[in-house]
Amino acid sequence: MPLKSSSAGLRAAPAALDEGELRGLVRSRPLPAHVAVIMDGNGRWATGRGLPRIAGHREGVKTAHAVVRAAGEIGLDYLTLYAFSTENWNRPEDEVSMLMRLLEEAIVRELPQLMEQNVRVRPIGRMRGVPSGVRRGIERMAAETAENTGLTLLVAFNYGGRDELLDAVRTLAGQVQAGKLAPEDITEAHVSRALYTDGIPDPDLLIRTSGEMRISNFLLWQIAYTELWITPTLWPDFSAVDLYRAVADYQGRARRFGGT
Ligand code: FPP
Repeated sequence: MPLKSSSAGLRAAPAALDEGELRGLVRSRPLPAHVAVIMDGNGRWATGRGLPRIAGHREGVKTAHAVVRAAGEIGLDYLTLYAFSTENWNRPEDEVSMLMRLLEEAIVRELPQLMEQNVRVRPIGRMRGVPSGVRRGIERMAAETAENTGLTLLVAFNYGGRDELLDAVRTLAGQVQAGKLAPEDITEAHVSRALYTDGIPDPDLLIRTSGEMRISNFLLWQIAYTELWITPTLWPDFSAVDLYRAVADYQGRARRFGGT
């Protein structure tokens, strides 16, 4: 009988395994097509060490690099990273500007490796309102990797789930107003197609680091039936092993999508 949720059998086994063994284990089972990650805890990682918060973000970029590589190594099709939310603009001005610089530098530095790893980058979020340097970097990264055929990396930048739904409602309202769509004909598929994630399967697994038990306005429509995996580990301490543990745990669950 399949395990109902993240229960003993499959969770206990991976704890004793090293990275290579875990990778082999998750690759031998059906993989989630899409894993989404709320990367949280950079600030706490830094302040816990008496360092400025930006030091945590710098480590966070290194973790993102390792996780993208690890996702590619097990053959995931889609990985979404929540890099900057619409609410993150409310942080102190100096943290926001340092974070923008850090992300801009990371884009330039990571591009050759993303090409080498055959990763296709697709930004999701509202590009208007993003400082021009970062926006250009993101657009360049998306354009240059567009023909790659490996992992699709969705980078959620200036992303808000409610904004995304608002934009979708406006798109559909426009189609109704133009006489192209009747309100009673609107289906879930119309909504999905009007989202930033058009054409991307909904996440099978959502990982959140740093132990917070919330969704933080992330992929609100898309995570209706997504499995959750929350770890107390702070994002800078998260590793390939943690990603593989989360996937192994997911593989031990029976998804019922509201059925029995
Ligand atoms: C989370 O920690 C930090 C963010 C969401 C900001 C940006 C993320 C990174 C720099 C990671 C790298 C991402 C990419 C795509 C290169 P927090 O500041 O919310 O931590 P706290 O909750 O401990 O304050």
